[in-house]
Amino acid sequence: EAPEDLFYRFPLSLVHGVPLMKPIANNWEKIENFLARPDDLLIATYPKAGTTWMQEIVDFIIHDGDLDQANCAPTYVRSPFLEISSPPPIPSGVDVLETTPSPRMIKTHLQYKLVPKSFWEKNCKVIYVARNPKDIAVSYYFFDLMKQTQPDPGTWEEMWTILGWGSWFDHVINWWEAKDKHQILYMFYEDMKEDPKREIYKVMKYLGKKLPGEVVEKICQHTTFKAMKENPMTNYSSMPSAVMDHSISPFIRKGEVADWKNHFTEKQSKRFDAEYEKRMEGTDLKFRCTI
Ligand code: A3P
Repeated sequence: EAPEDLFYRFPLSLVHGVPLMKPIANNWEKIENFLARPDDLLIATYPKAGTTWMQEIVDFIIHDGDLDQANCAPTYVRSPFLEISSPPPIPSGVDVLETTPSPRMIKTHLQYKLVPKSFWEKNCKVIYVARNPKDIAVSYYFFDLMKQTQPDPGTWEEMWTILGWGSWFDHVINWWEAKDKHQILYMFYEDMKEDPKREIYKVMKYLGKKLPGEVVEKICQHTTFKAMKENPMTNYSSMPSAVMDHSISPFIRKGEVADWKNHFTEKQSKRFDAEYEKRMEGTDLKFRCTI
């Protein structure tokens, strides 16, 4: 059990039936009892759905398109990751958030049922971003290869088993149903790709923000795939290589809709579609795997 290195490929461990990386499971009591503040904004996603993109857009909106604010620190500092936990002495997300001044912009990948109750008690705003599962699968595969603390995905075929943060189906469906009970803006990666400006206006409206057209234009320009890939504050290049090895695959990798077509075989695609039909039956939640 006792590793020589602080970081290694952590095994998954079940928390209320959801597989999470072992250090997160070990820290669960603290995460569950996290104290939200009424002005917290939660950005919730299944991994690889466009979290970083939304974090950047929201940070710009909140700060009126201020470039100095966006460039003052990497994404993960400006918008801490709620449940992330590493072996001590690395501070956990909860530790960091306790000393983060309000208003806090908090990232989570937790399934709806695992979100600390405090967020609902305080009636916090939540922005959920969903992405079609085929592109998620490809993106997650490359991420698991490069992120040295995630379980080794093995081959592309082998990785279709148990993933950190659990079932994509449960995630998107349960958050979809939750939007009728709480203040949740449910967004889609494909919509953001199709018309980024339209989607930025949607987020602004939700946050009660009005900005001049030229500021919105500037936000669009600074949150394109290309801009974020080149920007050291958003591309995770500041992470130690023991955690992320960008030489295997860059964190900001391809940023497209339907890259799955380059990776799924015909057979895998059919098999996936059949599973999708079954699991999505009875929900009015719809995804676009192409735009
Ligand atoms: P790909 O692996 O398909 O390229 P997350 O931030 O949730 O981990 O999601 C990462 C995915 O979002 C990656 O997908 C990444 O390239 C993509 N992404 C990041 N910034 C983006 C942007 N500005 N525009 C489009 N896609 C972006």
